[in-house]
Amino acid sequence: MPSVLPDGEPVPEDGSLPASALDGAGDRPLAFYLHVPYCATRCGYCDFNTYTATELRGSGGVLASRDNYAETLADEIRLARKVLGDDPRPVRTVFVGGGTPTLLAAGDLVRMLDAVREEFGLADDAEITTEANPESVGPEYLAALRAGGFNRISFGMQSARQHVLKVLDRTHTPGRPEACVAEARAAGFEHVNLDLIYGTPGESDDDWRASLEAAVGVGPDHVSAYALIVEEGTQLARRIRRGEVPMTDDDVHADRYLIADEVLSGAGYEWYEVSNWATSEAGRCLHNELYWRGADWWGAGPGAHSHVGGVRWWNVKHPGAYAAALGQGRSPGAGREVLTPEDRRVERILLELRLRDGCPLDLLRPAGLAAGRRALADGLLDPGPYARGRAALTLRGRLLADAVVRDLVD
Ligand SMILES: C[S@@+](CC[C@H](N)C(=O)[O-])C[C@H]1O[C@@H](n2cnc3c(N)ncnc32)[C@H](O)[C@@H]1O
Ligand code: SF4
Repeated sequence: MPSVLPDGEPVPEDGSLPASALDGAGDRPLAFYLHVPYCATRCGYCDFNTYTATELRGSGGVLASRDNYAETLADEIRLARKVLGDDPRPVRTVFVGGGTPTLLAAGDLVRMLDAVREEFGLADDAEITTEANPESVGPEYLAALRAGGFNRISFGMQSARQHVLKVLDRTHTPGRPEACVAEARAAGFEHVNLDLIYGTPGESDDDWRASLEAAVGVGPDHVSAYALIVEEGTQLARRIRRGEVPMTDDDVHADRYLIADEVLSGAGYEWYEVSNWATSEAGRCLHNELYWRGADWWGAGPGAHSHVGGVRWWNVKHPGAYAAALGQGRSPGAGREVLTPEDRRVERILLELRLRDGCPLDLLRPAGLAAGRRALADGLLDPGPYARGRAALTLRGRLLADAVVRDLVD
């Protein structure tokens, strides 16, 4: 089952925010994340807040059902409109993620997007993305999404090799994600991403290279490459503990990252965040950039997290509890915290250091600055940006990003 939520103070029943959260809101971009908490089967490595039909059976009944989900989620968007009040900001980005959004009918995803459009309005150049599992879409489905206003799509490819897909419990066949890219282009999607995972037990350097080459070979304008994280409580963690599959080590991850950067940059993709590459600035995921830069975003759906003006809150995790709260006219918020200036400083370093531009050195305290000078001497930070007052990672620094961040926040 998915991991647990943090503690926090209670969210008021009407979801209202402290007045401070809305101060100056008109000057900040607003983004929506819409979570779809359903999957056909659970991949052994995944601890996202998602539920298979079997996992839902006997818990939540009709309330948790996929059939009513789009309407329930639209209720939360209407609640957001009340909480944010007469907000003049048209929405810059909408990102539908999961779970498997494309387990719902295309019309349901469009219905959810329409709710945002009706309540808030969309910016003329709004980026509207959905995640999609390759086995769950086809040309008609993609055309319906495009006609409904989606202009970016992100497919979970993970690997081009059957034996790697098998360890990951993926149900699509090799080649299907690449075909999806062609279908998405034919349907008129301007922006297409492929997600890849490296470091799966049993994957070789050659397997990884083949996956990258298969991905870039079909010309998406964005590729995300994630090191496999073995999350506590997942089936994969249990299999590793029982010795059924080997654990991959950090050196393997580092080698695979170098291969990723070599193949992707050789094919015209430029990194703009440690795990993300795009062929141009227009190909970058604006939604994630807004998130990394601390904009206001409202996360709707079970377990979704939100952030508005320094207040962070999160929803109840179970789809049944989520629908029950909204059905009774209550906020589905389970807890919240008001970020202190120190929380915001640390968070900015955590998120911005992973970006190509890095983070301003004036966010660092004396101990962090001393660590910054050491990282510079060790070749982990780039001297050019450093001289201009920014801590920006070198390629070697990207391999050790988590450790560099830990030192800089001191
Ligand atoms: C939230 S998932 C949902 C997308 C979609 N359901 C899918 O799996 O294709 C988005 C991406 O997160 C990545 N991911 C999920 N769990 C991961 C893990 N434990 N380690 C590394 N990447 C992970 C996968 O690349 C996946 O495509
Ligand atoms: S399909 Fe995606 S969200 Fe669903 S279990 Fe697999 S990785 Fe997780």
